[in-house]
Amino acid sequence: MCGIVGYIGSEQAVPILLESLKMLEYRGYDSAGVTVFNGSLETYKIAGMIKDLETVIPQNVTGSTGIGHTRWATHGKPETRNAHPHLSSNVSVVHNGIIENYLELKERLSGLGYEFLSDTDTEVIAHLLHFNMNCNGNKCLLDGLAETVKELEGSYAIAALCAEEPDILAFARKDSPLVIGIGEESNYAASDVTAFLRHTKEVIFINDNEIGLLRPGSIEIFDQGGNRLSRDTETIEWDLEAAEKAGYEHFMLKEIHEQPTSIQNTFAGKLSELEGTVTLDELHLDPAEIKRLRRATIIACGTSWNAGILGKYLFEKLAGLHTDVETASEFRYSNPVLCGEELTIAITQSGETADTLAAVRSSSSYGCRSIAITNVVGSTITREADSVLYTRAGPEIGVAATKTFTAQLIALYMLAINFGRIRGIISANEAKDLIVGIKRLPGQIQKVLGRKEVINECAMQFADKHDYFFIGRYLNYPVALEGALKLKEISYIHAEGYAAGELKHGPLALITEDTPVVAIATKGHTYEKILSNIKEVKARNATVIAVADDDDTEIEKYVDVVLRVPTSHELLAPVLSSVVLQLLSYYTALAKYCSIDKPRNLAKSVTVE
Ligand code: G6P
Repeated sequence: MCGIVGYIGSEQAVPILLESLKMLEYRGYDSAGVTVFNGSLETYKIAGMIKDLETVIPQNVTGSTGIGHTRWATHGKPETRNAHPHLSSNVSVVHNGIIENYLELKERLSGLGYEFLSDTDTEVIAHLLHFNMNCNGNKCLLDGLAETVKELEGSYAIAALCAEEPDILAFARKDSPLVIGIGEESNYAASDVTAFLRHTKEVIFINDNEIGLLRPGSIEIFDQGGNRLSRDTETIEWDLEAAEKAGYEHFMLKEIHEQPTSIQNTFAGKLSELEGTVTLDELHLDPAEIKRLRRATIIACGTSWNAGILGKYLFEKLAGLHTDVETASEFRYSNPVLCGEELTIAITQSGETADTLAAVRSSSSYGCRSIAITNVVGSTITREADSVLYTRAGPEIGVAATKTFTAQLIALYMLAINFGRIRGIISANEAKDLIVGIKRLPGQIQKVLGRKEVINECAMQFADKHDYFFIGRYLNYPVALEGALKLKEISYIHAEGYAAGELKHGPLALITEDTPVVAIATKGHTYEKILSNIKEVKARNATVIAVADDDDTEIEKYVDVVLRVPTSHELLAPVLSSVVLQLLSYYTALAKYCSIDKPRNLAKSVTVE
């Protein structure tokens, strides 16, 4: 979802801005643009892709200061006039976020003679900045921006240039991500670090309500009161290769293949097989507090919410902790009954999902302690939550979450085992079994990956279908939900994930010989139940694809296709089944020539409500 970039230094800005924008493409966008200082501010923008933008920028544009933007339409259609940067005479602005009081500001500015050329909320920022710099006293860019943000309601990460101050790039942030990259005699601003990873790994994460300016060799940051802030730099551990395709046709395929390593990174150094313990020191949780907990509320969106359902089952089984799972966008407007001795667990791979952030703020207002499970170091959630458990899966570029999902599952297993031991619900031996099982998962995922051709054949067989059902029970229910979400996201096939026992309460009416039903049927205490559900849909002529354990010799009698996973601990099988379903979606989308890494209408990081 919208990305902003900025560069100020000694090199040509255009290629750096375009390359940075390309690195942000994965966030999702429908139009793009840049402004470069080339004696005056020159702006080029287009409804379309970065490659289209490249064609409208003349070869002879020089200049070493610039800002750029990828826009994901919210206010106004994806048309060139709505693309950023937005201009007001001598100033140019790019913005990520939503200005809630833009209509009121627009009316006021129109009354002052400003002419609006777009339908966006952002254009008010450009005119207001111009007004504050030129008509409301005579202010420099930084002071003008400080004055401007005081009047904005909503969320923003802003980068701004002024023709009269070509050696300055000003920025401001509230509720929308913004990070500064520190180079040699050059500085960068961006919505996320991947934009400038090629140039520097030294960064400063800008906090809410901070404002500042970049010059080629210096950075100044101020708080709301205009006080200068001294901020430490952080070093990003990700390297550039991690954010590139490394020979794979798509990021999604690469990220699916990274899972043996990415989950290993999630649990590295935390599991003791000998003692049957999981050490999560980074959470700084007092065991007495964990023992006292009466309830946990998991808050998340999309794939992370699906991980949350598995989390609920795990916390209840392993830690005896009553757990609710809430969709963040609903939770924030509900009237939750929460009290101090409760825990909120926010799951968000990006750490920037606006609804999840708002829901955590809401739960904190009830005095609940919060833990964030996230993949992105320095993301907003890491500053909102009381403690953070990083999934450490490395950058995920494909819009459809894959390796971050399995990493979230591992984080949830670890949390549940840790709580379960402290609360005395599971024994050291039970914990040991799980720990041994978790450590085996990377090798088992590798085996699943080795079977991708079988999954590809299955995907091709059904790629022309219009509807798919995914069914599972207990821990396999969230796997079914995630399998369906993955398929619809990237192949555009209508797919529904169902708790298998619910089929007869409606969806069975839709089952025909043209409806493939994927049944997640790994062994466990609901195995016999899922077999009954398979028989129910077979009786309605559905084609059934089962995901089953290697040592299951019975399943073949009941289904049309079997996709195998290595036999694992019952509680851990969801990780392996999820990898099978990721590959099924991937190959289905491939057979349909879909835009796999950037599915239509979707964004990787949903920073607006
Ligand atoms: C978007 C992405 C999904 C993701 C969801 C929640 O919709 O396309 O893949 O699951 O946001 O994102 P989060 O970063 O909070 O996990």
